[in-house]
Amino acid sequence: MPPRRSKRAESAADQLQEAIDALGAIRRGRFTDDDDLDAIYRHALGVVRKLGGRVQRLERDLRNERANAVGEPPDNKPVLESTTLWDYPVQSYGENKKGDSRYQGVTPAFIIYNMVQRYTEPGDLVLDPMCGSGTTIDVCHEEKREVIGYDINPIRDDIQRNDARVIPLQDDSVDMVFIDSPYGDNVDYSEHPENIGNLSAEQDDFYDALAEVAEELYRVLKPGKTLGWLIGDQWVKRRFTPVGFNIYTMLTEQIGFIPVDAICVTRRNQSSNTGLWHYRALKHNFYLRGYKHLFIVRKPERRETIDQQPRTIKVGIDRHTRNPESRSWRKYK
Ligand SMILES: C[S@@+](CC[C@H](N)C(=O)[O-])C[C@H]1O[C@@H](n2cnc3c(N)ncnc32)[C@H](O)[C@@H]1O
Repeated sequence: MPPRRSKRAESAADQLQEAIDALGAIRRGRFTDDDDLDAIYRHALGVVRKLGGRVQRLERDLRNERANAVGEPPDNKPVLESTTLWDYPVQSYGENKKGDSRYQGVTPAFIIYNMVQRYTEPGDLVLDPMCGSGTTIDVCHEEKREVIGYDINPIRDDIQRNDARVIPLQDDSVDMVFIDSPYGDNVDYSEHPENIGNLSAEQDDFYDALAEVAEELYRVLKPGKTLGWLIGDQWVKRRFTPVGFNIYTMLTEQIGFIPVDAICVTRRNQSSNTGLWHYRALKHNFYLRGYKHLFIVRKPERRETIDQQPRTIKVGIDRHTRNPESRSWRKYK
């Protein structure tokens, strides 16, 4: 039997062997009941995931040591992504911390690095209206971009308290926006009454609030400049809510952003990424959320003609002519 509840295997080789033994045990039916199978599976999965992290760090150290040996600067920058599938086993990179990996809902710094490299130049102004633990601020400082970070519940001195629905910046003043908003009420960010993370993604209020945020982002962005919006879908109590598709529709068809692309970012560190939840997902025939959407959109150029604008659809009304009283998301459903 695999040593699933024994003391932890010390070396990477022992851990690998432990996982292989567990695989063999499951394959040969060497478990007593469902609970026993679950225990073997969960333990082995935990071991394999930790090993993955060690391998990733080993790869980085190897690159850096080689660079050191030949007198090159350390290779501590992320790769620039060339496809629409991004996958990061760790939250941060380099010698300086970016954000706080213990902050619930922290953004992988690699995503912000890629956005900053693709859509800004040194000296440009980047805005993060829901800055959380400050990952965007840290990435921007290292990449020599100007940055403003707000949050309704700031946890650092360089983050200003502000509700993202009213941004104290001038029209057409920002070169890029990155936002990783709440995806619903799945994470307990704070008890602040204006915390959008206390609204359910199954309710209109949530989409109304984020549409107000999006309007402000549209207003402060310079024409032609880019917004990256990270968002996840929801599956709660046997109900799927396509939060990402709702936000994408709101951005492009309600607010007037032009689609640039949609990236799939692997989810790795959410609380349901445990052996037990994987087992439940199979046993009860549902799926765990495996990815988040990163929607990349841009504000139209001033001279951009109607032909270059995204297609319009019959539902909803034009953002410039509609009555502010009738903004409700439910009109667009
Ligand atoms: C997913 S977290 C952002 C994580 C952040 N990018 C990081 O790397 O740490 C979402 C953030 O939105 C903030 N938030 C919720 N409602 C807000 C509002 N009305 N205005 C500004 N920030 C808000 C929460 O306090 C939380 O920090």
